[in-house]
Amino acid sequence: PKMKEFSGINKLETALKEKLGVEYIIIVPGDSDRHEWIKYEMGKACVHYLKNILLPDSIIAVTGGTTIAAIADAMVPIHEENNYVFVPARGGIGEEVEHQANTIAAKMAHKTNGKYRMLFIPDILSEQSYETMMKEPSIHEILQQIKGANIVLHGIGNALTMAKRRNTPTETMEQLEKGNAVSEAFGYYFDDKGQIVHKIYKIGIQLDDLRDKNHVIAVAGGSSKAKAIASYFKKGKSNMLITDEAAASQLLRDS
Ligand code: F6P
Repeated sequence: PKMKEFSGINKLETALKEKLGVEYIIIVPGDSDRHEWIKYEMGKACVHYLKNILLPDSIIAVTGGTTIAAIADAMVPIHEENNYVFVPARGGIGEEVEHQANTIAAKMAHKTNGKYRMLFIPDILSEQSYETMMKEPSIHEILQQIKGANIVLHGIGNALTMAKRRNTPTETMEQLEKGNAVSEAFGYYFDDKGQIVHKIYKIGIQLDDLRDKNHVIAVAGGSSKAKAIASYFKKGKSNMLITDEAAASQLLRDS
């Protein structure tokens, strides 16, 4: 039965790779909508993959969310001697503390004996304070590190679920609904064609910055995220997807 399961997943991977046009794909068995620990399984798969690509001086940028937090849970030391720097991909976008990019970066660093940098930027800034903050050497320095990250780990969410989780103002909610927003990643909301419906203005990695990164890894599972994953990958600049069987099967069922 093990072998059969393996070949089933293999077929799913090949089919999904073609459908999404993504370079690398890993599918773990199960459905993270039904069992929270499947996120941990995706986390383990991600850590296993990181072992092949992490160099002793890699800079790893991470987003927030429960899925990326599960990667931190699954993280183990990779190189004895390393200079890893874990950084948040973007300024805080309203997640609970344990699921915030800052917290996740710190936890990953702790578990791998690496370093981390945090980005503390209030959610609402006047243009004037923004300009001042950007001139702050410590902020400027971490921004350079974020932009220079060679590995990016990010989540993908359902647009409206994410908007509600972030207490988005009514006006923006309406804009998202009118624009038929389906997915969200990096603070960008996309429709089913992958067009940007709305963008939360934040410092850090912007969508265009992903183009020249070698490893941009999306981690998202659960059949409820199938449409969101499809939407993101329409224009998405990530070259790898780690997902679960339920999301993968649903994605292939959706035309
Ligand atoms: O808020 C950070 C973030 O990575 C979003 O970009 C993404 O939509 C969401 O978290 C995914 O969260 P979860 O893994 O909890 O579904």
